[in-house]
Amino acid sequence: MSTTTTPSGKKLLVTAALPYANGDIHIGHLSGVYLPADIYVRFKRLRGTNVRFICGSDDYGVAIMLRATAEGKTPAEVAHAYHASHKADFDGLGINFDIYGSTSQNPHHIGTSQEIFKKIFSKGYFEKQSSRQFYDDSKQMFLPDRFVKGTCGYCAAADQHGDQCENCGKMLDVDTVQNPRSVVSGNPASVRETFHWFLDLSRFEGAVSKWLETAEVRDTSRRYVQGLLSTGFIKRSMTRDIDWGVPVPIDDVDAKSKVLYVWFDAPIGYISNTQQLCAERGEGVEHYTDWWKSEDCDILHFIGEDNTIFHCVIWIAMLSSEGSYKLPRGVVINQFLNVQFPGREVEKISKSRGTALWMKDYVASGENPDTLRYYLTMIAPERARSTFKPDDMLQRHNSELANVLGNFVHRIVSFTHKYVGPHVPDYLEEKVSDTDKAFVALLEKAFHDTTEQLEGYNFRAALEVLMEFARSCNRYVDEKAPWTTRKTDMETTKVTLATALKAIHFFTIVLTPFMPFTTAKMAATLNLDLAKLCWDDALRAQPAGSTLKEPQILFAKIETSIWLNAAI
Ligand code: MF3
Ligand code: ZN
Repeated sequence: MSTTTTPSGKKLLVTAALPYANGDIHIGHLSGVYLPADIYVRFKRLRGTNVRFICGSDDYGVAIMLRATAEGKTPAEVAHAYHASHKADFDGLGINFDIYGSTSQNPHHIGTSQEIFKKIFSKGYFEKQSSRQFYDDSKQMFLPDRFVKGTCGYCAAADQHGDQCENCGKMLDVDTVQNPRSVVSGNPASVRETFHWFLDLSRFEGAVSKWLETAEVRDTSRRYVQGLLSTGFIKRSMTRDIDWGVPVPIDDVDAKSKVLYVWFDAPIGYISNTQQLCAERGEGVEHYTDWWKSEDCDILHFIGEDNTIFHCVIWIAMLSSEGSYKLPRGVVINQFLNVQFPGREVEKISKSRGTALWMKDYVASGENPDTLRYYLTMIAPERARSTFKPDDMLQRHNSELANVLGNFVHRIVSFTHKYVGPHVPDYLEEKVSDTDKAFVALLEKAFHDTTEQLEGYNFRAALEVLMEFARSCNRYVDEKAPWTTRKTDMETTKVTLATALKAIHFFTIVLTPFMPFTTAKMAATLNLDLAKLCWDDALRAQPAGSTLKEPQILFAKIETSIWLNAAI
């Protein structure tokens, strides 16, 4: 038993998109980004890879300023509060980052962001250009698009934001918004000239298309980026006229009181959080290069579909122009999740319509975190959008987790206790039948299929394989009927129990990435130290005589769940 889990092969840095610190996290974020990333990290760790799992809050940008204005707080107060609440939510669901940093609190973030900006600047990749922008004379500040409201110059719809008309869909700018007003002061907005630093992304079409050739991305995402490439990239401003962000670090009067575009500094948060982690672990900040600039390490980003352009185009352009960092090995991108309440249509997740189901509510409800992890993985929007149905989650908890998996584990362990004793039975080799052998072959196949699906980022398919095998476990036990054989043939009964216990041992390991709370209970029953086990141990059985504790109820049947009547 207990093979070592000494890390081998290349190291791996896994990042999960840094959530904006201006709102709570809902099940769409969880199923799209944080859960698959956590599953993958747990899996690779069990396989012996030296992994670091990086996340943190994305604190800068206009969205946080808007929320601060709405709540009558400073942007820093807003960011810090959401940072803390996100961290607690992730903990409650077993999403175990090595660091949950914060771009506004990380002591390395500003310096590292500025250094990267300066390097790209010194290589001549930025173009300074003037543009006209809305300005609030009373507050003496430039107004980002979302801080301006006015009438659409195309369709006359009132109360439109400065960037796009929600009524006719047209893009708006300083010339096409009529009667513009500042959201900050309510006063009419004027227009002023300002300078910004643009990155001409068209210069990186070659770099992006070369990266895409070997990058691990799903086909849907690959086609999307190829589509962007075929229409050509444009120039994008990497600076903003706001006062909440990383100051633009160049010596130019026009750069004064400007900050970096939040999508410039946010992904650098992956790097600065790695620096902070290295410092916290006492390795020294400079060791972040072992993860970011080393041939010995791969980098993998987990994101939602709306972040694709920023990771697969702008980030690749930034890293390529900077020149000293490694490009990511892959970007795992999920689509959006819809919701459907009983008796209603499928709807988009929307805060205003009350269809956003918040992670913090689930955690506070005390319901089983693994039920949510299980269901979200089973419906994961990996290749297309999919739908979360609260009634379906409840039903699958009862019919799959409780009836199939929980029941199998419980009846085998209790039966063993009752008729054999509190240990794994020994058995006679000649009593092993073709049925037993066929069952072990199924276990081995499930192992290989799950491994392959997980390596390919197919989390949903991997879990389906395991649940299908759980069904086979119940069929096996029904066929071998130990409750009958124990009366006449105790030796055969011992084979059945030992083989079924081998399957429980298997599940304890391979289900850990998906349902760590449940497998911790299973490990306690089997008297196993999960921390000492590795992925391949799933194929081994515990030796005869190993102690068994009393079984725990893994999944109690439920009759209701917090979201069943939400949004009604
Ligand atoms: N804050 C962004 C969002 O929630 C994601 C930022 S990802 C990072 O959509 F790479 F920029 F960090
Ligand atoms: Zn319009």
